[in-house]
Amino acid sequence: MSVRSADPRVQEARRGPAAAAQGLRAAPPYVDTGYDPAADVYDLEYAECCGPELEFWAGEARRLGARLLELGVGTARIAAPLARLGFEVTGVDRSAAMLRRAAARRAALPARLRGSLRLERGDMRTCRPTGTFDLAFAGFNSYLLLPDAAGRRGTLRNAARLVRPGGGVAVDVFEATPLDTAPDHEDVEFLECHPGTGWRVTRERFYSYDAAAHRGQSTLVYRFYDGPTLVDERRLGYSLALLTRDEVAAEFRAAGLEIEAVYGTYDRSSWSRTSPNLIVVGRRPGR
Ligand SMILES: C[S@@+](CC[C@H](N)C(=O)[O-])C[C@H]1O[C@@H](n2cnc3c(N)ncnc32)[C@H](O)[C@@H]1O
Repeated sequence: MSVRSADPRVQEARRGPAAAAQGLRAAPPYVDTGYDPAADVYDLEYAECCGPELEFWAGEARRLGARLLELGVGTARIAAPLARLGFEVTGVDRSAAMLRRAAARRAALPARLRGSLRLERGDMRTCRPTGTFDLAFAGFNSYLLLPDAAGRRGTLRNAARLVRPGGGVAVDVFEATPLDTAPDHEDVEFLECHPGTGWRVTRERFYSYDAAAHRGQSTLVYRFYDGPTLVDERRLGYSLALLTRDEVAAEFRAAGLEIEAVYGTYDRSSWSRTSPNLIVVGRRPGR
């Protein structure tokens, strides 16, 4: 994307001195809103999954089997292109508004592929989607949104139960760095025009660190302009657990999963401290 991304993996590169030099604006009080308020702007921020990210998940599906479960499927940014490649994808999300966007994306698939993408409302900690899966995964930081260690443990245990013996469980997150404890602010003057209304959309983002919970809190303020007139303003608040590689790996083991690989990029380079991603791929024991 040409605009500054809200992706925390991109954030860390510019947090710190630059933000401090600009002088931080007073942040609005942090409220966890869930993703409903952002559903119709989410796809303006994040283009449909393609390139190395898509190839990574497709590669895991070719290796493990075609029945996929995405936990925190959102607008089906990843799931729809996987269905287009011929995989059978079930996506679970707790946001009704995100699922409506996902359903619209499914409707845009060729008719013969629409049945390959099933969408269900549910919580990744407890959901019981129909079927058995070869791979259950939480892409794009969804795992870090879980509110606490018990929620993450519950999610991994649930995923382990939902895949066949020998099936895979994977998360795509990032390893926290000291920069993630520094406050930050960014302004995106022009994100894009809203596809429904043509309104110009801007985004302001406030980042703060919750030391007690060791989480990074983001408040995104989206503003919609019809010409010069502000016609709508919406807030998305979410927080991400700040975890190390070893902590994520320990959570996999505590859920009874064997660790198969820890990658640092979508092209499967081994993870190191400077890697942009932390992709942990585990396996349920058995065959
Ligand atoms: C950052 S978005 C990622 C969406 C999609 N995977 C992607 O790559 O664009 C995180 C999604 O996880 C969902 N989510 C957060 N906590 C959840 C939970 N406990 N159970 C199910 N979905 C959850 C949110 O509603 C949101 O749609």
